Amino acid sequence: MLKGKAVVLGVTGGIAAYKAAEILRGLKKNGADVAVVMTANAGRFVAPLTFEALSGRPVSVDLFDPPAPGGMEHLTLAKWADLVLIAPATANTIAKLAAGLADDLMSTLALATTAPLLIAPAMNTRMIRHPATEANLAALAGRGVHIIKPETGALAEEEEGYGRLASTESIVRRASELLLPRHDLAGRRLLVTAGPTREALDPVRYISNRSSGKMGFAIAVRALSRGAAVTLVHGPVSLEIPAGVHAVAVLSAGEMQAAVKEHLEASDAVIMTAAVADFRPADPRPGKIKKGGTDGMVLEMEATPDILGGIGRNKGRRIVVGFAAETSDLEKNARKKLAEKNLDLIVANDVTVPGAGFESDTNQVEMFTRTGRRIPVPLLPKEEVAERILDQVASLLEQAEEGA
Ligand SMILES: Cc1cc2nc3c(=O)[nH]c(=O)nc-3n(C[C@H](O)[C@H](O)[C@H](O)COP(=O)(O)O)c2cc1C
Repeated sequence: MLKGKAVVLGVTGGIAAYKAAEILRGLKKNGADVAVVMTANAGRFVAPLTFEALSGRPVSVDLFDPPAPGGMEHLTLAKWADLVLIAPATANTIAKLAAGLADDLMSTLALATTAPLLIAPAMNTRMIRHPATEANLAALAGRGVHIIKPETGALAEEEEGYGRLASTESIVRRASELLLPRHDLAGRRLLVTAGPTREALDPVRYISNRSSGKMGFAIAVRALSRGAAVTLVHGPVSLEIPAGVHAVAVLSAGEMQAAVKEHLEASDAVIMTAAVADFRPADPRPGKIKKGGTDGMVLEMEATPDILGGIGRNKGRRIVVGFAAETSDLEKNARKKLAEKNLDLIVANDVTVPGAGFESDTNQVEMFTRTGRRIPVPLLPKEEVAERILDQVASLLEQAEEGA
């Protein structure tokens, strides 16, 4: 299915370099033409000959000593590629890409190409969790670089943890998706909400929740790559705003309601992943509340506007998707919310399941439609869960069009 597609596979100097051979085989099996570029350090882990034999092409390592005499390999390969995939990507190479350095063939080629760039980081947990690496990855994501998050599992040095190269299967699948992009949301306008809201108590304190915004941001990014125009209304989050998305930052439930109202009319589907506060302080103080003795305080709360319910009541032909974070009776509560809020689809997750829900990079959900279907989604990276949700949205939009 990837016949006629050209992939530059970049291999960098990490312990997972040997896995690039399997990735190369997977891409070739799917019909892609693959040229391998290695960093000099990658050559310390696996000999270029392995990749040469598997790819049937010369392997390029040196910017100044290309396989074809007098060639400018960085430009030739950069132009030839339909996709540049760096797997595994070391912390060092990620830092170079983030800084825009071009001091070897791999980094120069990455700057020179206009093809999509997909990187699969793999390293020790402390390296990937280091603020420098996190900032570098966030900068790359913000620039539209596609990143396959590592997995948690066995690492080198008999360690266990986050940072293990994603599976060959998911890397090959993601590469294939980028090479054969689905445009089933082309021409659709999506409004996505994400993250928590903050309800002020006084100028320095607020009530909020643990939502990270990751699920909504993943939906926005994936919808964009499937051709949709995306408006992302988000609460306070520490995520990089994805390039190409129209982002609207808000703080409180009231502000989120106003922003949603403003963009609702121009949307074909609304996906409300935001964890909007249900209650807010009834009487936020204009000045900082003083401790004033040792007695406690009673805080009076009032309900916030029901944004989702409001959209459901006035949905017209729009597709409306809600989320339900539950700690018990998942199906019953989700179906109740689906009916009460007049939704087309509800995505429910049990936030007590390890690896699902708030702050996590993965999620395990069940989707319920108004026609009574139940669609379970196993524990997957939030990006993959986003794709499953968008599959449903695309088909609901299609059905709505056919029924019109
Ligand atoms: C045995 C060994 C294993 C390594 N494994 C990794 C790794 O998995 N990920 C990583 O980011 N760096 C790893 N490093 C460090 C890189 O090799 C080093 O940062 C190097 O400069 C990367 O160069 P490159 O990005 O040009 O390939 C490892 C080093 C050694 C000696």
